[in-house]
Amino acid sequence: MSYDLWDLYLATRKERLAQRLAKTDELLESARNDQHVFGIGQVLSEVDREVRIRCAESGRPRSMLMFASNSYLNLNTHPALRRAAKEAINSFGLGTGGSAAFNGHTRLHQMLEERFAELLGTESAILFPSGYAANVGVVSGLLRPKDRLIGDDHVHASCWDGAKTAGVRRTQRFRHNDLDDLRERLGEEVSPDADTYAVVESVYSMEGDRAPLPEFVALCEENNAIWIVDNAHGVGVYEDALVRDLESANGVGGVITASFAKGYGVPGGVAGGSSALMDHLRFLSRSHVFSTSLSPVIVAAALEGMDLLERDPTIRERLWMNVEYLTKKLTPFGVDQNGGSPIVIVPVPEEMDAKKAAKILYDEGILVNYSAFPAVPREEQRFRICVMSRHTNADLDRLEKAFERVWSSCLQGA
Ligand SMILES: Cc1ncc(COP(=O)(O)O)c(C=O)c1O
Repeated sequence: MSYDLWDLYLATRKERLAQRLAKTDELLESARNDQHVFGIGQVLSEVDREVRIRCAESGRPRSMLMFASNSYLNLNTHPALRRAAKEAINSFGLGTGGSAAFNGHTRLHQMLEERFAELLGTESAILFPSGYAANVGVVSGLLRPKDRLIGDDHVHASCWDGAKTAGVRRTQRFRHNDLDDLRERLGEEVSPDADTYAVVESVYSMEGDRAPLPEFVALCEENNAIWIVDNAHGVGVYEDALVRDLESANGVGGVITASFAKGYGVPGGVAGGSSALMDHLRFLSRSHVFSTSLSPVIVAAALEGMDLLERDPTIRERLWMNVEYLTKKLTPFGVDQNGGSPIVIVPVPEEMDAKKAAKILYDEGILVNYSAFPAVPREEQRFRICVMSRHTNADLDRLEKAFERVWSSCLQGA
């Protein structure tokens, strides 16, 4: 019997642990039999436009062209950030040994919070160990069980996990990027002492499209809902951070969360909002209070990343040139995004075996993410290609050629 990951996920809700462990075993066995690879094997080098890996299947090292990294600006390998990180090791050591709420808040942490507040256009900001922790911490720190969370159908799992942590009883999803659907839900009755929150992503991680942020914020405020924007894929990547000009009219405003991992290439998370909201979260956000603060090494690297992007605009310019170049090249394969984000989605035709197609790309030395049937419905299968600033035109041409080969071999036999 062959299992897919979705099957296993559903089992976690229904079956006892012993049955689930047996199922995990079968999943791995069937993957081995299909020569299907979970993950890419072991990474042997830094992750840049190219990466050396130990192939999970053959055990041999090989170089791959990287189109699956969220470090769109390649700052994770930039010499200036490495230098800043080394200086921070000398001054502060590797870690703080404490929570940000106690002894884990260094001068560097303070500086980074201030820089983020400026960048996001908010009064204040607080740091979290990751973008995931920022969303869980904000949602669980603000909502009570009787409050309501309405999220775009495609918002990140961490937003819903925050609601679970808070024991929120009423969570609702609205159709992706459909503000009319959100309006309808906002109009539904709630108990008079319940607050409503609504959450979207600025750039959708799995779709590569963007939310209509000013309209979303205006709609929330008209309906007295508190808005949350997960800006994980916006901060650093876009010069205006996508959120700086969001106007808040109701005095409470909203919260912007973000990860540093995409724009600045280092782990870390942040939330920004009014001083009142941030002061509240400093005490009540469990993933801020009950977790060791970010390493000063990471904080120094993120600060340098911000300076670097101001000093050298060509880093972002090259990314956007690459996005435009690749989007044009892949238009014949169904890409229709007009280059609005570094995440380029290629829908996989229903009649194509996406796993076989992904295997061909992998064998050609190309790493892309993909979602395949039956983990997603056939009409939603897609390749997710992450463009980077340091990709060359030759890299992008190689990807196009590989897609041509996949389309000619997988569409015929499927
Ligand atoms: C939209 C979105 N929000 C939050 C996160 C979590 O960020 P991090 O990787 O820093 O935990 C991600 C990362 O995949 C993301 O895509």
